[in-house]
Amino acid sequence: MQALSPANVFVYNKLMNGEKIRLQKYLAAYGVASRRAAEQMIAAGRVAVNGRIVEQMGVLIDPAQDQVSVDGQPLTSRPALRYLLLFKPTGYICSVHDERGRRTVLDLLDGVEERVYPVGRLDYDTSGLLLLTNDGALTHRLLHPSHQVEKTYLAEVAGVPSQQALRRLRQGVLLEDGLTAPARARLSSVQHGKATVELTIHEGRNRQVRRMLAAVGYPVQRLRRVALGFLTLDGLHSGQWRELSAAEVARLRKL
Ligand code: URA
Repeated sequence: MQALSPANVFVYNKLMNGEKIRLQKYLAAYGVASRRAAEQMIAAGRVAVNGRIVEQMGVLIDPAQDQVSVDGQPLTSRPALRYLLLFKPTGYICSVHDERGRRTVLDLLDGVEERVYPVGRLDYDTSGLLLLTNDGALTHRLLHPSHQVEKTYLAEVAGVPSQQALRRLRQGVLLEDGLTAPARARLSSVQHGKATVELTIHEGRNRQVRRMLAAVGYPVQRLRRVALGFLTLDGLHSGQWRELSAAEVARLRKL
């Protein structure tokens, strides 16, 4: 039998205790989607309990008694949990589907049959490290603001940021959605009047790095995420992905 993830241990314990759990939590623990995406699936009428579509949030189910299905497919055997690290090229969006028909990061995952979801997002025009998984509980933990997982970016900017600009990046920059948390910032290289800034943040606001650098006077020309916690792009070329090792997954859970 496959080792149970903490999420599935959680469901298993509930099952053994005959306890009820919220439908969206069950779906996330089952690896169907992150909790937020599971809520969207419920709201969209894609989830049924005992054959009846459930559209309201917060419905409690008994995993031992109730039969849950998604898009008409009963959740019977547990899907294998997958943890993939992708070197995302620019020109792909981080979503499962795009209304404008642009390529998505899922197009890069040849041979992966499970439905995996990006943990956070990189912009269409950002390249670099992207984690994808169907472990909803881990996704939820990694994205939760209280966990503050560090993300490191290399940003190419026009001009060479002054010491004062770097200090502002470190101390916090006032953006329209508030002051950014303290960050690490240093000049990584300077060439032909252009600089590369290495910036490490632990927040995950929309287009945060681009907005921070623009706010201190150095708009980003190219952006790449090079690390997420202890994970790096080592050994991968743009467009390639690899499976995380069991040890890496265990370490991620402890972050
Ligand atoms: N910050 C950005 O501005 N863009 C990204 O893709 C990631 C972080």
